[in-house]
Amino acid sequence: MKTLVLANQKGGVGKSALACQLAHYLVCKAKRVLFIDLDHQRNSSRALSLNSKVTVAPFTTTELLEATELPLAPESSFVLVPGDETLSGLERRVELHNGFTNNLQDFLENAADAFDYCLIDTNPNPDIRYAMALVLSQYVLSPIELNQEAIEGIRALLGHARYGLYNIQRRFNPKLRLIGLLPNMVEPTPFQKKNFIALIQEHAKLLISTGPAAHDFASIPTRTAIAEAQAEGAYLGDMKKTSAREALREVRLSFEAVERQMAMEI
Ligand SMILES: Nc1ncnc2c1ncn2[C@@H]1O[C@H](COP(=O)(O)OP(=O)(O)OP(=O)(O)O)[C@@H](O)[C@H]1O
Ligand SMILES: [Mg+2]
Repeated sequence: MKTLVLANQKGGVGKSALACQLAHYLVCKAKRVLFIDLDHQRNSSRALSLNSKVTVAPFTTTELLEATELPLAPESSFVLVPGDETLSGLERRVELHNGFTNNLQDFLENAADAFDYCLIDTNPNPDIRYAMALVLSQYVLSPIELNQEAIEGIRALLGHARYGLYNIQRRFNPKLRLIGLLPNMVEPTPFQKKNFIALIQEHAKLLISTGPAAHDFASIPTRTAIAEAQAEGAYLGDMKKTSAREALREVRLSFEAVERQMAMEI
């Protein structure tokens, strides 16, 4: 099982929407997907639990973190461990942080044969949940927006003394690989084009290559169909509208590149 965490300290950049669509994309390719929602906002949980393809585990993420042995529903190939409101209080239970991390690690190890991928959606504003997801994952994907503030935020994403990817890699998880930054909600405005060029100039190595040309980098445009899919709990590929099909075609280029990165041996 390959474990991928969607992470960025910034809120509203599309972590949940892309995590849900990526999960569906992988399931459509006959992969078995376990989805863990670490966010008390429950945006992914709400969307996924509306979908009939998804089996909701009989316990929440907090219950998973608190328990030592939890059975999964191995007969299903698309399982959601839903978030819950108490997740936001875990940060204060400092004496239990190691236990939470150990329990999540055991859970992932027990699930490893039953699933091909585990996708973990995280909360913005890093805390123990964000840290343990990064400590226990092999891959991280960071959706970002193309505004100045977000581009400046990349430095914190990587270099933050506690939650920065470099610190987590160095101290806890040398195997953690940044698949890359994935510009999301990209608009064809001069402002965003300028910011994309600046991002490429400064951080080309952190972007996700989609083809042989130097400027072939994964990115996802703003598409109403993506927000609609998320609101309805649907996969773009299952929606009848032409706009959803078109959005899927665009999104698929990025998802294929993410999947290729995860297929490489580490
Ligand atoms: N490419 C896109 N086009 C249009 N709408 C999008 C796109 N990506 C995400 N959205 C919408 O933008 C909103 C914010 O996205 P989402 O909830 O996925 O962000 P997030 O990073 O998970 O936020 P949070 O940090 O609060 O968890 C949602 O309504 C989502 O449906
Ligand atoms: Mg979210």
